[in-house]
Amino acid sequence: MQISGKLARAARALVEWPRDHVARLAGIDTPMLADFEAGRADPGDDAKARLRLILEQGGAVFLPEDGEQGAGVRLKFTARDVRAINRMEGGGARWALTTSDPAVAGSIATAHMDCMNPIDALGLSFPLIQAPMAGVSTPAMAAAVSNAGALGSIAVGATDAAGARAMIAATRALTDRPFNVNLFAHAPPRVRPAEEQAWLAALAPLFAAQDAAPPTRLETIYHSFAQDPAMLDLLVEARPRVISFHFGLPGAAQIAALKQAGCLLLASVTNLDEAVAARTAGINVLVAQGFEAGGHRGMFDPDAPDAMLGTFALTRLLVAKAGLPVIAAGGIMDGRGVRAALDLGAVAAQLGTAFIACPESSADAAYRAALASPAAQHTVMTRAISGRPARCLANRFTQWGAENGDDVPDYPRTYAAGKALNAAAKIQGEGGYGAQWAGQGAPLARVLPAADLIAAIAEEMREA
Ligand SMILES: Cc1cc2nc3c(=O)[nH]c(=O)nc-3n(C[C@H](O)[C@H](O)[C@H](O)COP(=O)(O)O)c2cc1C
Repeated sequence: MQISGKLARAARALVEWPRDHVARLAGIDTPMLADFEAGRADPGDDAKARLRLILEQGGAVFLPEDGEQGAGVRLKFTARDVRAINRMEGGGARWALTTSDPAVAGSIATAHMDCMNPIDALGLSFPLIQAPMAGVSTPAMAAAVSNAGALGSIAVGATDAAGARAMIAATRALTDRPFNVNLFAHAPPRVRPAEEQAWLAALAPLFAAQDAAPPTRLETIYHSFAQDPAMLDLLVEARPRVISFHFGLPGAAQIAALKQAGCLLLASVTNLDEAVAARTAGINVLVAQGFEAGGHRGMFDPDAPDAMLGTFALTRLLVAKAGLPVIAAGGIMDGRGVRAALDLGAVAAQLGTAFIACPESSADAAYRAALASPAAQHTVMTRAISGRPARCLANRFTQWGAENGDDVPDYPRTYAAGKALNAAAKIQGEGGYGAQWAGQGAPLARVLPAADLIAAIAEEMREA
């Protein structure tokens, strides 16, 4: 590739990082960084530690001869850095190279490269992603978040290509900023008639209590992206700036086609093995989903042993060992949480539960009431609602699942019954059978318009 060749020749060149970007990541303002470079001011140990982390995270090295004072924005590439940068191609960010070396000046004068921090590439003001939340996030929410300077997401995993087309169009009607389109890439479900009938029989008393009967059989209510060529065609045509995957990875041809279309690819991972698989497959950025996280666990194989890594440990593990930029997700609710994620080496934080109570969300009244009540202090991982482990506010359904959830049919076939039970219960005014997904930070959820929530989090980050 042309850029790779230029980068290889530029291996010993100096690069200047955009100063305002470095300042923002370090949590200081640009004039302070300039004063620091010039030796006129000391931003304090915290900012200096962050600067060091940013530079190390960028795969670059200090120039010791410049001394501490000047080291903030001048980097020197090594062969290792160039390899790391080449791995990131398709990652998106564009940083201009400059050099004083006449041997390489010509070749890199106009060269741009993909950098280690995709957040910069998207032109975000805040390193914050509103999590895609099927059934909860909406085009209005994604657009409000993106318009406020963070990255909004729409979740199209539970719909088909036509539904996704409509959601992308609805979002684009409200924003011309980048947003993320999220897909489920799970292994296709097994159809196990005997187990499924046993499951429906076990649920029958719950349906009866709501004056309803269970469905006669389970259905695959939506399909994995890995098996949805129409969805791939749509995405290649629509070319969203960011696409993220949950529950696994699509095939090599799908990844290649989406990268060719210029999309930045993210994947949820819950351990190092999944992270390495994602990197090997060509994913650009990892979403490190800790066990605290609300909603479905993104684990590739729901039947594999689960180490249940928390956000803190998982983020550090992946930043240190996975070789890709990391977005931290799980239990992050405010500016201090986002700041902590950055301190752990994440390039951004992804927040889901924090946005459920926003007016732009499609959470129903019972869900909102539960989230606002003391019930929010108790979340549990359950498989009974959908067939995959997911963290939910403790409710009647999770309680039943804890006692009856031994041989659960596959996702999303189980979900067909779960959704039917909730619909029947809601007719009776019973809200305790909903998929009320929420993370462990649920009691910290705020009822604010999405843009105001972003502004509040940004303010908290400045204060943190
Ligand atoms: C209501 C809800 C729905 C979710 N749906 C999705 C989804 O459709 N796709 C996805 O990748 N992640 C989904 N997630 C998981 C989020 O991407 C993210 O990992 C999680 O929200 C982070 O934890 P937090 O909720 O504590 O912030 C969902 C989370 C919640 C709370």
